[in-house]
Amino acid sequence: PTIELFLIIVLCYLIVDLSECELIQVPDAVYHLMRHTELKTCDLSSNVITKISPKFAVKFSFITDLNLSHNQMARLPDELADLHSLEMLDISHNTFITLPAVVFKMPKLRELKANNNAIIDIDRDEIITSDSLEVVDLRHNPLTPMCHDLLKHAVVSFRIELSEREKEDWEDLTI
Ligand SMILES: *[C@@H]1O[C@H](CO)[C@@H](O)[C@H](O)[C@H]1NC(C)=O
Repeated sequence: PTIELFLIIVLCYLIVDLSECELIQVPDAVYHLMRHTELKTCDLSSNVITKISPKFAVKFSFITDLNLSHNQMARLPDELADLHSLEMLDISHNTFITLPAVVFKMPKLRELKANNNAIIDIDRDEIITSDSLEVVDLRHNPLTPMCHDLLKHAVVSFRIELSEREKEDWEDLTI
């Protein structure tokens, strides 16, 4: 079915499923169709999206679940801090090199999935703190050993999931 037809069907459930549509960005038609709805769940996973428009937060301000996994995104606009109902954000399987600081500014965010990216380091100039976060999944990222240790011992109110750090050659005494 065409995207429009599909949207009209799913709109009844206040859920948008646009996964696996080969989207490069969110089509304007979607914003247009969404203008009078209080959308709750938005699945944009498994596309080829490289960026989300700053207007996304304005149009989708009621969503609680946003799935952006399996795309090609490396950044999120700061405006997403205005997603004041968002509780679950999945940005796993993308191309993020750092964890975008905006995730710590979403007031209701409880679960952040950022696993399987290219995250090497966390921007330590930004404070990693949150009153709402419960769990941040950072597994399967090429974190620097220093960053890995820092996160492992970080005193934060939420759980940080990390993969086992790979030992560097000099640490492996069996060589
Ligand atoms: C997001 O979508 C992917 C791919 O469809 C799926 O595997 C994953 O479980 C979803 N994430 C959440 C938190 O539901």
